[in-house]
Amino acid sequence: MSLGYWLIQVAYLVASILFIIGLKRMSSPKGARQGFYAAGAGMLLAVVVTFFLPEVGGGINLALILIAIAFGGVIAWVSGRLVPMTAMPQMVALYNGMGGGAAGAIAAHELILGTHGPSQTVLAVVGALIGAISFSGSLVAFAKLQGWFTALRFPAQNIVNFLALLVVSLFAALAIIYGGSGVLLVFFLLVLALGVLVTVPVGGADMPVMISLYNAMTGLAVAFEGYVLGNPAMIIAGMIVGAAGSLLTFLMARAMNRSLGNILFSGFGETAIGGDIEGSLKPINANDAGAMLAFAQRVLIVPGYGMAVAQAQHKLWELVKLLREHGVDVRFAIHPVAGRMPGHMNVLLAEAGVPYDIIGDLDEINEEFSNTDVAVVIGANDVVNPAARTQKSSPIYGMPILNADKAENVIVMKRGKGRGFAGIENELFYRDNTRMLYGDAQQSVAALIQAVKAML
Ligand code: TAP
Repeated sequence: MSLGYWLIQVAYLVASILFIIGLKRMSSPKGARQGFYAAGAGMLLAVVVTFFLPEVGGGINLALILIAIAFGGVIAWVSGRLVPMTAMPQMVALYNGMGGGAAGAIAAHELILGTHGPSQTVLAVVGALIGAISFSGSLVAFAKLQGWFTALRFPAQNIVNFLALLVVSLFAALAIIYGGSGVLLVFFLLVLALGVLVTVPVGGADMPVMISLYNAMTGLAVAFEGYVLGNPAMIIAGMIVGAAGSLLTFLMARAMNRSLGNILFSGFGETAIGGDIEGSLKPINANDAGAMLAFAQRVLIVPGYGMAVAQAQHKLWELVKLLREHGVDVRFAIHPVAGRMPGHMNVLLAEAGVPYDIIGDLDEINEEFSNTDVAVVIGANDVVNPAARTQKSSPIYGMPILNADKAENVIVMKRGKGRGFAGIENELFYRDNTRMLYGDAQQSVAALIQAVKAML
């Protein structure tokens, strides 16, 4: 082995260590930015040293790789800058799908070469299976989140999917035993179709969990193909993504009180569920709501998806600063699945400059609602729905919720009677101590700032 070979291996090891440090730093909002830089530096290093591998060759190979990097880089840069925060889940789905597709393409190339031993061939086929399902499934998830189509269901769908899985497994065995481009072509087409079949019935509401699952699968596929290529950086990075993605999938499912099987096979989240609720919705205007806040001692703010839609976080922080300057104790209560992606609210609040020490997670802050004068619910719905505690028939039954209803007064900011993600009514909005401040959240907060300024 030449010195060059060992230098490349050491560089891959350093890249892998940077990935691990990056992931560790990303586990807290404080270190997330450095985490991104560390993982990004690791990726850059891994890509650069790969150019020095003898099998990359020169000439046409090098030109093709550089064109692909330039083309993909420009698209990623532009789309990454333009994408609105609310469209982030589908963006992640798209990029994740590309990773799965890349792993599948590597597998296809290696299997057509047919120069590997039995263990590599098996892993190449399994990686191809996982990667290609992740590719087509993620594209379907992207299209659904873009609102291009809704869940598609037909009779005996789960049985059809199971039979499709059996046929795919048969072709996977044929690809391992006999290989050949004909078998491989049919195998890949079937796997891609399976990814579509498995994803189309999943409700749009469950898409973020599916994306996280596909993310884990892409990681595993990359790790398997790393083994086939003998590339340690791919193995380590792939395993990290696989493990982190699996954990995230289970944590998201648990925070929604759903099992993975229920998410994959039930079709939850597409249908709106009705329900008769006693009481009435009682509107409040910004002046009265501003007075409630200005004269409160303790205020807890519950942000949700609507805050992201309205991009109200900057104005909200302005309001919070104003109230805190005048002695009101204002803090934020964050539900683990508020918004549409993990950490969604934390990211938005961090972007607005809200300090971490006034943001509390569900576990640490939930008890405090009963000592709170005003709970302000801004664009949140399901995460404060008391039906989760009491109504066994409710799709969110068992999901832990923020106890906004236990505050002395509740102000809810939303545009109208729109339901939340789960499509169900929220009895909190009808309670005696709740007042509805209607309007786009950003405009409502701006009006509250004016009202509070006039009062203090
Ligand atoms: P949701 O239950 O989705 O409710 C959002 C509310 O915001 C709606 O009722 C809507 O009512 C209001 N809204 C929309 N645009 C608005 C605007 N411009 N200004 C003011 N209000 C606006 O949100 P949530 O409470 O954050 O719950 C999150 C849901 O997503 C949960 O069911 C959770 O399980 C699910 N989910 C989350 C994740 C992650 S990881 N976060 C992943 C998958 C699923 P109007 O239309 O009347 O305004």
